[in-house]
Amino acid sequence: MKIRENFLPLAVPDIGDAEKAEVLDSLESGWISVGPKVRKFEEEFAAYHGVKHAIATSSCTTALLVAVTALGIGPGDYVIVPTVTWQSTANIVEQVGAVPLFTDVEKDTQNMKFEDVEDYIGRYGEKIKAIIPVHMSGLPVDMDRFSEISDKHGIPILYDAAHAVFSSYKGKMVGGFGQMSCFSFYATKNITCGDGGIITTNDDDLAERCRVWSYHGLPKDSWKRYSEESGSPHVQCVVPGYKFNLTDLQAALGLAQLRRRDELIKKRNDLIIYYNELFENLDCIETPVFETAHGKWGNHVYVIKILDEQIDRDRFMQELRKLNIGSNLHFYPVHKNIYYKRKYPDVVLPNAEWLMQRILTLPLCTKYSRQDVEYVVNSVRYVYDYVINEA
Ligand SMILES: Cc1ncc(COP(=O)(O)O)c(C=O)c1O
Repeated sequence: MKIRENFLPLAVPDIGDAEKAEVLDSLESGWISVGPKVRKFEEEFAAYHGVKHAIATSSCTTALLVAVTALGIGPGDYVIVPTVTWQSTANIVEQVGAVPLFTDVEKDTQNMKFEDVEDYIGRYGEKIKAIIPVHMSGLPVDMDRFSEISDKHGIPILYDAAHAVFSSYKGKMVGGFGQMSCFSFYATKNITCGDGGIITTNDDDLAERCRVWSYHGLPKDSWKRYSEESGSPHVQCVVPGYKFNLTDLQAALGLAQLRRRDELIKKRNDLIIYYNELFENLDCIETPVFETAHGKWGNHVYVIKILDEQIDRDRFMQELRKLNIGSNLHFYPVHKNIYYKRKYPDVVLPNAEWLMQRILTLPLCTKYSRQDVEYVVNSVRYVYDYVINEA
């Protein structure tokens, strides 16, 4: 097989003239830290997701930390999280001194296993102060069931929507569901600010608390410092807040990306559909769930499963690397990470532990072409047929 000359990373950001113009505008305006572009980005994001408030932060991780802090979660509390996620979802629970209760995930969607949630509620009842479902790869969890359980037991739902900027559920964008949702604008996400995050909520009080906690603990009026209105110079914190704001330079990128959303989601979905088509006759590969009765999205990552258990997935990745293809894992279960394994050694989650051996994330981003996808699929076939089987 002819090896491509340049390396194909998992994803690269799609930055064009629109992004460059917005960033230049920010540079020339003199507002490079938090200022009018951050406010505009928040407004446009909230409007896109049909939600009352959006509070921009430095990342989705800091958004999640602010959100659990705003919910008042602390030592002695329990929070239910899926094990198949980026470490942040559980780390922020540890950081506030609470205990993460790890659930398993469904083998097909990799979304949180609802039965495990019910089981934990049966066991720990009022000690559970939040549930953090992850919309894995943008595929929305069954939010009606989470709303029901939230109403029944009075447990807030904080969605980790890091992958779900483009996702909707029963015709509504996901940002308006639950108590809050947190999104990521990391360099390889569906839209990017380089790094960045946002919290969405319809709850006025939570919105105000998130804003205060995310910026030095300063109350609402002190934000007037950053507008044309004149605020009091006697700015005082009301809680020991963090400094987790987004900057105008980052928001400039985000604004341009958000306005290109139709183009970006179409390109992404065209490539995913092409991947699915090319993989159709390859029985050893399971492609990601792409459509459900009630959710629409553009996969943030393209995760296949190598069903043949004779195949060593790590070797598969190494062979793809030799063919100049980057791949990754979404995700190695959090409860199997060194820190969590030591602290919670008895956690056993069979689906996640099976997936851990079988998943493989292939390159996907809006900068790639159909030829890139063909090269990846041909390489997967090649590795499977000739390299692994001959070994
Ligand atoms: C599911 C999930 N949650 C949270 C995060 C953290 O996002 P950020 O890098 O913006 O902090 C990520 C990052 O990839 C993620 O995949």
